[in-house]
Amino acid sequence: MARYSHIVGWGMYVPEKVLTNDDLANIVDTSDEWIRTRTGIRERRIVTDPSESTSTLATRAARAALEKAGLSPTALDMIIVATSSPDHLFPATACLVQDALGAVNAGAFDLSAACSGFVYGMAMAHGLIVSGQADTVMVIGAEVLSRLTDWSDRNTCVLFGDGAGAVIMQVSEQPGGFIASDLGADGSGASLLSLPAGGTRLPASEETVRNGMHYIKMDGRAVFRFATRVMAEATRRVVDKAGLTLDDVALIIPHQANSRIIESSVIKQLKYPKERVFMNLDRYGNTSTASIPIALVEAVEQGRVRPGDYVVLVGFGGGLTWAAALIQWGAPKVSEVSRWQRWFWAAWYRVYRTRSAYRRLLRRLFALWFGTRERSEEELERLRRLRKE
Ligand code: COA
Repeated sequence: MARYSHIVGWGMYVPEKVLTNDDLANIVDTSDEWIRTRTGIRERRIVTDPSESTSTLATRAARAALEKAGLSPTALDMIIVATSSPDHLFPATACLVQDALGAVNAGAFDLSAACSGFVYGMAMAHGLIVSGQADTVMVIGAEVLSRLTDWSDRNTCVLFGDGAGAVIMQVSEQPGGFIASDLGADGSGASLLSLPAGGTRLPASEETVRNGMHYIKMDGRAVFRFATRVMAEATRRVVDKAGLTLDDVALIIPHQANSRIIESSVIKQLKYPKERVFMNLDRYGNTSTASIPIALVEAVEQGRVRPGDYVVLVGFGGGLTWAAALIQWGAPKVSEVSRWQRWFWAAWYRVYRTRSAYRRLLRRLFALWFGTRERSEEELERLRRLRKE
């Protein structure tokens, strides 16, 4: 049987707190007019609850995608979380999501390709599915960039937002689905957009904290030039690889970084009609890896993507990286979820939370028991030595 990979579920989550341009003008020397005309952004969402993090946003989007697909978390073979703001350097945020979902049959790993990460993740999921290594893969783009943002730097703090988007890709005999990709990188531009400290190159120290090296640093103009070039080139290449022309493409969903980048790359350079380019960055800002899946979810919910449509997803980001994918939207069966099913899934997640807490407790008890035994052996050794003396 020929194996194809199709999107069968999708979901998103953004925090409730809206931060408007006017709110930002109270924090840094900027204005609603400057932000709107230079970026197209009007507002963004940010987390305020300290218990929220990238993994909790990712989990909410993942649960919505499972609900849409009518799938149990146990059906997942792999969970890929693309993120630039993981909960920790390690363990992977994907493992925390796996635990929170009770996806007991899934492997889990994080993918770091900055804002191109979600499309990279879809390409990895496609590879796993067509090679027969997995049947059902969850791909999530999730960020809490507000915790890595220098709120006194007007060059960066006006751009970013928090959120998460997820898709479930599943094996199918039906041609279509994920058709082609174009993934690339140019590490010579690594310093143009980075979070310099906290890794092995510049470990966390008093000095790195004092110098604000744990915040996002960016050369905005250089990134702008890079983005306008690669978005157009990658879109052209992926359409060529699929043996199609731009006229065949019903919708382009670009990374939602800046409306001027989208206008001068996709719309001007490719001469692609603006009404077939999806944009929602005015409401969410740049949510990095989450921007393309959030836009895809909204495009589908608004009926902008119909069965059989060819859609291009294209992004760029730190690294520097770029990624484009061409998909043909299938006819996913959207499951209607009853109140009873909703209750069942809420109970499922509670049960798995309890199971997880129980396993942690067991580990602690074992550690205590073995720890005590080790100590008593040391004690015995000391006694033996004392006796000899
Ligand atoms: N409010 C008001 N003025 C601001 C400002 C802000 N938030 N940010 C920068 N400025 C000022 C600059 O200091 C500069 O002033 P100067 O001329 O006195 O030095 C002026 O505005 C123009 O700055 P410039 O950097 O040329 O603006 P720009 O038109 O290139 O827009 C960006 C800046 C950041 C919006 C734009 O370069 C951009 O979007 N780059 C890509 C960034 C991106 O997408 N990053 C994420 C990649 S995934």
